[in-house]
Amino acid sequence: MSSPANSQESDSTFNSKIRTRRIISDDISKVVSHLSSYFCRDEFTLGLWPSDDVLVDLEWILEKIISHGLCTLAEDIETLEIVGVLCCYIQPMDKEILAFSKLKSYAMKINFGLNTVAVKNSNFWEVINESQYLHVFALSVHPDWRNAGVGTRLAKDAFFSDEIQTGPHILASMFTSPYSTKIGKRLGFKEMPESVVKYETLSWDGKLVFDSEDLKRQVDGKSCEILWMDLNTIL
Ligand SMILES: CC(C)(COP(=O)(O)OP(=O)(O)OC[C@H]1O[C@@H](n2cnc3c(N)ncnc32)[C@H](O)[C@@H]1OP(=O)(O)O)[C@@H](O)C(=O)NCCC(=O)NCCS
Repeated sequence: MSSPANSQESDSTFNSKIRTRRIISDDISKVVSHLSSYFCRDEFTLGLWPSDDVLVDLEWILEKIISHGLCTLAEDIETLEIVGVLCCYIQPMDKEILAFSKLKSYAMKINFGLNTVAVKNSNFWEVINESQYLHVFALSVHPDWRNAGVGTRLAKDAFFSDEIQTGPHILASMFTSPYSTKIGKRLGFKEMPESVVKYETLSWDGKLVFDSEDLKRQVDGKSCEILWMDLNTIL
């Protein structure tokens, strides 16, 4: 795969190497392969259980949310290889779009569980004061292309597109690592009060999730939080 010559390239050079477009059904296997290779390895929470098989969950999730038409990929114009992926879906207040009970892997359950805890703790629905919002499920960039603006560009192309302005105008996501939080804040996302979850305090069925010495060490002092944005206030 080709990669950016360096992260300081001008916008025009960068733009001539990759393009972004909506994900369609024919892309699902490629997107699942990208996400299982890189997102599930490098996203902070999913990466804590590297031997978990998240493929079935990813296929199910993608098939379920693709119809929302809000999943975007960035591809290398020459090779058509996937450079990055941003997957969002519309989440109504009263309906579970991605039913928790359908998830198979422990890693994915924890990833979703963190969001559930943060939504509950923060009185999320009261704060946003809307009956639906756009949930960002995954933002992932191929390792060869990281730190070159692809993640930011995917987000800009998706969030500030004409299409999105006709749908829900609240965007929100669980941000699980310091650098993705940085991208979010740079794009205008703000903190959801009371949504911070300290990993070491998370329990599941009455038992601490990060209980082994290895897990404790990896999550020591770390936390995740919901960031959100109201497009109406910034467009
Ligand atoms: C998070 C991710 C999507 C960012 O994509 P990207 O294309 O590298 O992002 P950008 O180049 O647009 O911006 C990245 C910013 O984060 C910083 N950053 C990126 N990777 C980093 C890393 N490993 N450690 C520290 N900072 C990092 C960059 O310095 C940059 O900030 P700056 O412009 O102020 O210097 C990508 O690193 C990734 O796929 N990570 C694994 C999956 C993941 O964690 N997704 C987010 C889950 S909430």
